Amino acid sequence: MTAVLPLPSSTPARVATPRRFVMCRPDHFEVTYAINPWMDPAAPVDRARALSQWEILRALLEQHGHSVETVPGEPGLPDMVFAANSAIVIGGRALSARFAHPERQPEGPAFHRWFAARELRELAVAAETNEGEGDFTFAGERILAGVGFRCTAAAHAEAQRFFGLPVLSLELIDPRFYHLDTALMCLDEATIAYYPGAFSPQAREALAVHYPDAILATEADAMSFGLNGVSDGRHVFLDPGATELIAALRERGFEPVPVDMSELRKGGGGVKCCVLELHTPRP
Ligand code: ARG
Repeated sequence: MTAVLPLPSSTPARVATPRRFVMCRPDHFEVTYAINPWMDPAAPVDRARALSQWEILRALLEQHGHSVETVPGEPGLPDMVFAANSAIVIGGRALSARFAHPERQPEGPAFHRWFAARELRELAVAAETNEGEGDFTFAGERILAGVGFRCTAAAHAEAQRFFGLPVLSLELIDPRFYHLDTALMCLDEATIAYYPGAFSPQAREALAVHYPDAILATEADAMSFGLNGVSDGRHVFLDPGATELIAALRERGFEPVPVDMSELRKGGGGVKCCVLELHTPRP
């Protein structure tokens, strides 16, 4: 006989809500330049494998009740697969990206054209360097934003004005975790997980004040890109290598869904980097 053990009463029931995601097929994925420490143009990339990992991620998101729209990739723009960087979209308002590196700058107009063909309440190109959800995480009552490697403080101020939401600026200090979404993941509007070592002492303090119950991930979890995950409030799609984080998520009532994105990792990205969310704030 199997016994069903109840969750400890302190563990809240986690509720998934259907999400709208945007992804870009890695048809043109390769590593021809290095703009983060994970990229090595001398190391071979298996594009077919990258494509099949990406297809599995898309299928898993759909199987869990989420919609996925796709932006066509463009030849010569190998990092377009990292669609999280294309924009920040909250409540039908979209701020499309302005990339830091010349190699990625043409992605800005390519993604912008796709957004311009959608029905949006408002669409603007960021005036400041802004790599979309790479550095900005919508956390319900506020936006958490990374600064230090890609995005500037001026971009945080611009996002705060554009969305009319407070932006909490968090300084990143470790080049391996060059975008906020490599070091911090929003699990629901009140719960986050992060790797403290990626942040400056002031940022760590701010995180501790605002999120005293956060899951603190280990360096090994972060190195596995475990924090580069996507949560629907219950299911957390993340790298299977982040074993301690996976255990911590289970303990907190979340349901980890492992997704291997090791081929895309050669570009310095994981699950979250491949997925932009079109956020619908709760009324
Ligand atoms: N090669 C890309 C870059 O360095 C990877 C971007 C990953 N995206 C992300 N949201 N972290 O810009």
